[in-house]
Amino acid sequence: MPANIIDGNAIALEIRKQVQQSVSKRLENGLKAPGLAVVLVGESPASQVYVRKKREACAEAGVVSRAFNLPDSTSERELLNLIERLNHDHEIDGILIQLPLPDHIDATTVLEAIHPDKDVDGFHPYNIGRLAQRIPSLRPCTPYGVIHMLNTIGETYKGRHAVIVGASNIVGRPMGLELLLAGATVTTCHRFTRDLADHVARADILVVAVGKPGIVKGEWVKPGATVIDVGINRTAEGKLTGDVDFAAAAERAAYITPVPGGVGPMTVAMLLRNTLEAANNHDASS
Ligand code: GUN
Repeated sequence: MPANIIDGNAIALEIRKQVQQSVSKRLENGLKAPGLAVVLVGESPASQVYVRKKREACAEAGVVSRAFNLPDSTSERELLNLIERLNHDHEIDGILIQLPLPDHIDATTVLEAIHPDKDVDGFHPYNIGRLAQRIPSLRPCTPYGVIHMLNTIGETYKGRHAVIVGASNIVGRPMGLELLLAGATVTTCHRFTRDLADHVARADILVVAVGKPGIVKGEWVKPGATVIDVGINRTAEGKLTGDVDFAAAAERAAYITPVPGGVGPMTVAMLLRNTLEAANNHDASS
C-alpha cells in the first residue's frame, strides 16, 4: 500500500497559529512582541529565499524581525561586533545567523559569540550540550521540527530503530540526540559508513539529511518504515527534490515526507516557537 504523505505545511501552520495566539496574549498582558534579528551575509540566492520565508513567517505570527543584510565583504570582526550589540539589545530575544557564512568567516567562532539565551537556532555548544545531557533548552529547529512531525503522526520511539543518514552539525548530529532523548535506538550514517543500504534497510524511522538527490534508494526502505527526507535539492530543470528516491520509497513506507512541503516548513515554524520561548524566558528572568 502506498505511504501516507506527511503534510509539513499543515503541521507547521498549526504551530505558527499557536505562536501567533501566544504572541497576542503577551501583548494583552502588556509584554512586548518577541524580537528576532535575522542576519544574512552575502548574496546566496538559496539563503535569500530561506531568510525571506523566515521574515514573512515572523510578520504573520506577530514576531518583530529586524533584518541585517550584510555584504559578502563583511569581516568576521564586524559580524562579531554586531552580535555583541544584539546580545545586549533588550528588544531582541533571538539572533539568527543564516548559514553558510562566506569562507573568510569562521562559523564556529560566530555561533559561539551568540548568547545561548538568544540562540534560537540552538547551535551554540551550550544548547547542544543541554540536549546531549537530556535537559534541552533551545533546540535546533530542523531536528526539533522532525520530532514534532513524528509526534503528530503518533510515532512511537521506545525500542524502535532510528537511522539517520548525514552527520552535519545542523541536522544529523542533533537529530541523533533528539531521537535518543525520545527513546529510540539510534544509528548515524556518514561519509565513511560502509553498506549504507544495509543500515537503511533496518530503519523503523529513517531521517535523511545529506543534500544529494537519490542517495537513498526506494528499494532499501523497510516495509512500514517512517521516512523523513530533510534534503532540499534543485534539479537541472529547476525543480525541488529531496535525498530519497520518493516514488519507490513511498511504495514501501507507512509514512513519508514530500519535498517540498515536508520538513522545510517545520524548520521555520520551530524557529518562531524558539523565539517565543526565548522571549518568555527573558521575561521570567528579568
Ligand atoms: N542553513 C541551513 N539550515 C539552516 C538553519 O536551520 N539555520 C540557519 N541559521 N542556517 C541554516
